[in-house]
Amino acid sequence: MTRTRTLYLIGCAAPPLDRIDTGVRLAREAGWEVCVLLTPAAREWVGDPWELEARAGCPVRWEYGGEEDPLPAPDALLAAPLTVNSLAKWACAMCDNRALLALTEGLGRGLPVVALPYFNDALAAHPAVGRHAAFLRDAGARVLLGEGGFVPHRPRQDDVAAYPWQAAVDALPAPHGGRPGAPH
Ligand SMILES: Cc1cc2nc3c(=O)[nH]c(=O)nc-3n(C[C@H](O)[C@H](O)[C@H](O)COP(=O)(O)O)c2cc1C
Repeated sequence: MTRTRTLYLIGCAAPPLDRIDTGVRLAREAGWEVCVLLTPAAREWVGDPWELEARAGCPVRWEYGGEEDPLPAPDALLAAPLTVNSLAKWACAMCDNRALLALTEGLGRGLPVVALPYFNDALAAHPAVGRHAAFLRDAGARVLLGEGGFVPHRPRQDDVAAYPWQAAVDALPAPHGGRPGAPH
């Protein structure tokens, strides 16, 4: 019997976090079992994680281990929304929270990892940002920054409704071992 494959959806503290249940829904429609991991800042942003759990219909976690119902191991990871802050930490293997530990380990283990950033073009223009994205791509992550993924907006001119959740889910491999998605 084929086991349903598990996707960790990593949410950082940027405006599309308010619609992370959309990402959960689309990933489930694609055949994934979804678990949400929040950064500490995203946990604060969410306010009531139990309300998010109910709305998203999947486990939501932000601290390390210790729970009565441990999460299944991930088969793939999707970081969305990915902040400049967590992009930089991930590229440098800084694991000071559970979400970043999962992302860093996932890349290290060679799991499929897709990242959909969200930040303005002023942040994107910082020279480290493009280098972090390129470094992670070289390491095997699929970083959807630019045309076909997330295109940075002008400061204070963002459009959360246009955040391309579907493109991120489409960039994941097929969850049931069928025809794989686009190459990483
Ligand atoms: C109202 C508000 C909006 C923000 N929007 C963004 C954003 O779109 N992209 C981004 O990278 N950071 C944004 N930030 C900054 C992040 O929330 C901040 O860097 C935070 O520490 C990120 O933590 P995390 O990466 O651990 O989730 C915003 C902060 C605030 C207060």
